[in-house]
Amino acid sequence: MSNLIPRSFIDDLLLRTDIIDVIGDRIRLRKAGKNYTALCPFHQEKTASFNVSPDKQFYHCFGCGKSGNAIGFLIDYEQLTFVEAVENLAQRVGLALPAQSVRAQKQSPQDNSIYDVLTDVASFYQSQLENHPKASLVKNYLKNRGISASVISTFQLGFAPPGWENVLQYATNKGYSLKQLVEAGVIIEKEDGKRYDRFRDRVMFPIRDHRGRTIAFGGRVLDDSTPKYLNSPETAVFHKSTELYGLFEARQAYSNLHSVILVEGYMDVIGLYQHGIKCGVATLGTAVSPTHFQRLFRYTDRVICCFDGDNAGRQAAWRALEASLPCLNATHSVSFLLLPEKEDPDSLIAKEGKEAFVNRLQRTVSLSDFLLTQLSSQHPVNSIDGRARFLQAVNPFLTKLNDAVLRTMLVEKIAELCRMNSADLEQLLTTLGKAPTHQSYSTMIKPAGRLTPMRLAISLLLQYPHCAKSVSAEEVNIITQWEMPGIAVLSKLLTLLHQNPQLTTAALLEHWREENNIAYLHQLASWPLTLPTDGVAEEFTGTLHRIKQLAFEKQIDFLLEKAKQHALSSEERSQLQMLLKQQAQEQAV
Ligand code: GTP
Ligand code: MN
Repeated sequence: MSNLIPRSFIDDLLLRTDIIDVIGDRIRLRKAGKNYTALCPFHQEKTASFNVSPDKQFYHCFGCGKSGNAIGFLIDYEQLTFVEAVENLAQRVGLALPAQSVRAQKQSPQDNSIYDVLTDVASFYQSQLENHPKASLVKNYLKNRGISASVISTFQLGFAPPGWENVLQYATNKGYSLKQLVEAGVIIEKEDGKRYDRFRDRVMFPIRDHRGRTIAFGGRVLDDSTPKYLNSPETAVFHKSTELYGLFEARQAYSNLHSVILVEGYMDVIGLYQHGIKCGVATLGTAVSPTHFQRLFRYTDRVICCFDGDNAGRQAAWRALEASLPCLNATHSVSFLLLPEKEDPDSLIAKEGKEAFVNRLQRTVSLSDFLLTQLSSQHPVNSIDGRARFLQAVNPFLTKLNDAVLRTMLVEKIAELCRMNSADLEQLLTTLGKAPTHQSYSTMIKPAGRLTPMRLAISLLLQYPHCAKSVSAEEVNIITQWEMPGIAVLSKLLTLLHQNPQLTTAALLEHWREENNIAYLHQLASWPLTLPTDGVAEEFTGTLHRIKQLAFEKQIDFLLEKAKQHALSSEERSQLQMLLKQQAQEQAV
């Protein structure tokens, strides 16, 4: 999609946009020197580690590592698509989107129409639940599972009929292209050209996003065949690891969500809903992640994790505990409800009814009790070395907590449990904390490692684009021909800046939005470089020089190595001589 909006338009848009206004309209920014800081909107924190630079037109959170330009901010914060974000900014600065991209966008298979496909297919499945010859059988299945017509309609449940081409025909008749259908995840296309409906002979659960748009499907078989559930693949609008089934419906049911019950399956959400507990949400067959909690805490203060009473359920609860730690604070809490063996929320509420289930919900286990009970049963604290092992085990959990108050409270509980004094315990924990036994959430984003000359050069160009002036067009040409990792990025940056010296950090990064290395470039764009401002250009030329030496060394090594195996061509020989001569000159200087 993005490539339908001309690059030059986006460059221009970012030049006219002030990221401080865009972000400042949405969260409270405080001026701190040249930059602005705020509490990060993307993770829970007490002290401001979110930074916005007017020079770079770029934001970066030192806590969770999120960074980007104004477009990226809107995509992440408002959950807009790329085009929506561009439109939003364009409107702000009074630019009209180029006509051809507006037209293309309307017809684009990847943008709005993916929602259209999914909406149409969802209503096809719904209509099949009414009209298909097998409909009464399917309805009986749902009825036997205790689901009423009104809940069927709230969740827009449907039926994907048996047969290979039902959706294919229906959607093709509606005018959708095969490509659109494959991109929406409803049709599978094999390499040999065979194409067929992904979901066949299944009860269909449309998965809806926070705005209620259908973004994917889950489908369950009607018998004991496998796979029991089938989900849509990842698509442009469906990201399994962050979506939550039932969240939209829960928000529709209550204007204020006091709490949310996190369960494992579609049917658990629906079973609870059927009994009047309308705040169940489920992950989509993936482990619970911090992103899930971040999302939930936007709408509620309390998450109750309610998993099956089997071993897998216990493990899921434990993983949920770990995932929630970075998101917890005095207002946002997590508690646990472990069900009896062999039960899940759906089966249990069907068996014992709403009242008994609500009773259970009133007796959930707090996160700290769950954590400490589990760990102290593995490492009993009634001996000196038991306590040491227990503290060793509990410490990684403590370090994941971002909230200082919560941490203090937990430390006090631990002190009590181990019959120690909190101050001594804190001391001990600090020593334990120095052993790098685990990775905290904030460092989960892969660090770029050492700042090599190439990384430094790229980082300097991204952060101080004016450095590019010290390199002539001719030199850019030569640099492009060096062979070493990163050279493609370096020369693209130099070329871009030669064509348009006004580009900011933000506008430069925009040129890599769709590339794999974008996260890495974001890191370099926010790498803390401790440089005097007037020494930047000098630092850059020095770095380029070092890169040149490295490139030469590499080429010399390559040619010498090659010479051991074959005779070099005369061209290669003269290149080697030239390089060796240059190297000798450099060393003489
Ligand atoms: P019912 O048998 O319909 O009550 O489902 P359940 O929710 O009790 O099923 P289970 O506990 O086995 O699964 C919980 C969740 O895991 C489901 O809602 C699915 O999201 C996922 N899941 C279960 N089985 C499969 C499978 O075979 N494939 C995939 N992709 N996901 C599955
Ligand atoms: Mn079940």
